Amino acid sequence: MITISVQHKPMFETRSDAYVFLVEENFTFSKELEHFSEHYFSQLRAMMQAREFTGKALTTLVVPVSLENRTAYLMFVGLGKNEAHHYELELLRRVAGQMIRMGEANKVSSLALHMPSATWFGSTVQELAKQLAVTMHMASYHFDLFFTEASSKLSRDMTVTLLAPEHEHEAITTGITQGGWIAESINAARTWVDMPPSMLHPEEFATFAREIAKKHNLKITVFNEQQINEMGMGGLAGVSRGSDRDAQFIVTEYRTVKKDAPTLAFVGKGITFDSGGLSIKPANYMEDMKEDMAGAAAVIASMDALAKLKPEVNIIALTPICENLPSGKATKPGDILRFYNGKTAEVRNTDAEGRLILADALSYAVQHYQPDFIIDLATLTGACAHALGPFYSGMMSKHDDMVKKVEHASERSGDRVWRLPFHDDYKVAIKSAVADICNIGNPAYKAGSITAGFFLSNFVGDTPWVHLDIAGTAFDVPDMPYYRKGSATGVGVRLLIELAMHWQK
Ligand code: BES
Ligand code: ZN
Ligand code: ZN
Repeated sequence: MITISVQHKPMFETRSDAYVFLVEENFTFSKELEHFSEHYFSQLRAMMQAREFTGKALTTLVVPVSLENRTAYLMFVGLGKNEAHHYELELLRRVAGQMIRMGEANKVSSLALHMPSATWFGSTVQELAKQLAVTMHMASYHFDLFFTEASSKLSRDMTVTLLAPEHEHEAITTGITQGGWIAESINAARTWVDMPPSMLHPEEFATFAREIAKKHNLKITVFNEQQINEMGMGGLAGVSRGSDRDAQFIVTEYRTVKKDAPTLAFVGKGITFDSGGLSIKPANYMEDMKEDMAGAAAVIASMDALAKLKPEVNIIALTPICENLPSGKATKPGDILRFYNGKTAEVRNTDAEGRLILADALSYAVQHYQPDFIIDLATLTGACAHALGPFYSGMMSKHDDMVKKVEHASERSGDRVWRLPFHDDYKVAIKSAVADICNIGNPAYKAGSITAGFFLSNFVGDTPWVHLDIAGTAFDVPDMPYYRKGSATGVGVRLLIELAMHWQK
């Protein structure tokens, strides 16, 4: 766990295991560093030269030093070159992650650093403190519940002291608090995704949602499989049929006190394990399929932070949850399912199951809430992971003004999105000879992510809607200092929160 506080003191009067300096490329020594080097380590400059440390972006240098009666580290992290002193916020996030990694590697329990300049990052002091907090907490996350040897646990308890002038204390404290809330949601989503699939079934997932709702007094409705069947949600029921576990459809509502506020619907795919069903996946494609509920995890987890942050919009979180398994009862290729809005689909491949459960959830959102906006998050297609890789989620929409809002939230939050074409030319790809639509695209149209998006478009009517395919970004994203190898990212939580908080702006 990371505990962050703010102090107004000269750096070396703050007792800390490590003192961190964020430096520009070809930096000159600050007065503080000059003073330090004069009194404690006259070879500091020479050492930097020998190690060829110049402050290139995200390079690091760790220097052990001997103080009066103890040892400590100086840790340098490079910000890279920028004449105009203007840096992307994403650099700050990665630097924050890097600091936590350096702390872990050197087994320190405390870090102290000067609050970086907000203007350098085109931001406010509060926002910068929030971003720092979010990413330090994210970096600290490690799914280590099942290690029996202490040495396998990478995460360390650390206190981080941000040094700043007195007049910035309040803004920084607020930023730290809000960042803590957001990170709690992100790391909760990551824990659920990382949890082994036989330890997190639909019903356990519903328990998490109920706990969040109870904590904040949010309205929650959980439909079980019988109710799902009775309501005519043939997609969710059809996918769940092969599993012994009960499907769940969870609807959680946050209401703002503000009158006439817009209503946003957050919809998340929640397949707690995707074997492919009877169209079974090859073994190596199945290995990470516990991640197939990452959309639902993001949607439910973000409600926790949102209930504390209190945006001036209403938010309805809708998550269809089930397992996709083969059995004698499972839906078969060739079966036809009827969804909540009355439309039918031919199932030619039971592995294209995400769109089937989302169809019901989207229809339900439209019919019961008439939302001003719907966004869905789904680990929907391998094709999206191939097209964009692990750094951008695929975004599909016909509503340019909504796309702008999402892009803006994406830039500010760090959950990056990339828009894919969504022209009606692709629509015919999902024609079926026997039902309204088919659950896989005609191979001639390729573009599997877009044709999946068009399948979903049948269930939103005219409601402004954005679809995010997070198949590539939900799990095991490499080279990012605030993520971990082989683990969930919590993608979407930051974006959804940012979107709700700045909906009107
Ligand atoms: N859950 C998968 C998509 C996926 C793949 C998510 C890799 C994360 C990483 C989805 O249900 C699926 O199997 N999609 C099929 C669709 C196809 C049968 C049309 C796919 O992408 O192969
Ligand atoms: Zn599948
Ligand atoms: Zn799936």
